[in-house]
Amino acid sequence: EQQRVAELVESLMRDVPDFPQPGVLFKDFTPLLSDGAALAQVVDDIARRHRGEVDVVVGMEARGFILGAAVAYALGVGFVPVRKAGKLPGATVTEDYTLEYGSATLEMHQDALHRGQRVLVLDDVLATGGTAAATCRLVEQCGATVAACEFVLEIDALGGRSQLVDRVVSSLLRA
Ligand code: PRP
Repeated sequence: EQQRVAELVESLMRDVPDFPQPGVLFKDFTPLLSDGAALAQVVDDIARRHRGEVDVVVGMEARGFILGAAVAYALGVGFVPVRKAGKLPGATVTEDYTLEYGSATLEMHQDALHRGQRVLVLDDVLATGGTAAATCRLVEQCGATVAACEFVLEIDALGGRSQLVDRVVSSLLRA
């Protein structure tokens, strides 16, 4: 079953060279999203493996919103967005993270999670891991627990797992 999902993801991820900058190979999952049967399989697979283990799904701007909301619906739990700085209207918790050049800030509403809630952190791609690690710290700032981190695609060569040591990490496809 996991092999079948991995093959599905592999067949529907599109490599776009030199986007958004020369030298970057962009992993585009819009072909997977636009295929209704594939989208359902991916969402159902993630939901099945976390059913009963999580109280809320946290997804990162922007592509983590899409699958995150679908998985939350499938699990019957809520969804909480993590956004780039300055986008959320309420009081926020914030975390800085390092980019290839420079740094960025992620925010989450400080009242979005409750102490003791078990959280599934979900995004499309795990690359350097900066986004996911900052998101886990946001969850913990609110007193909630990261139950698992889940990705559609993990780019092994960029070493994102090293930012998530001692966490439960899974990805549908490692490349
Ligand atoms: C991409 C991707 C992840 C993040 C992974 O988002 O959707 O959120 O990068 O990279 P990392 O593991 O090196 O942190 P991006 O920052 O491009 O934001 P966007 O979805 O808003 O375009």
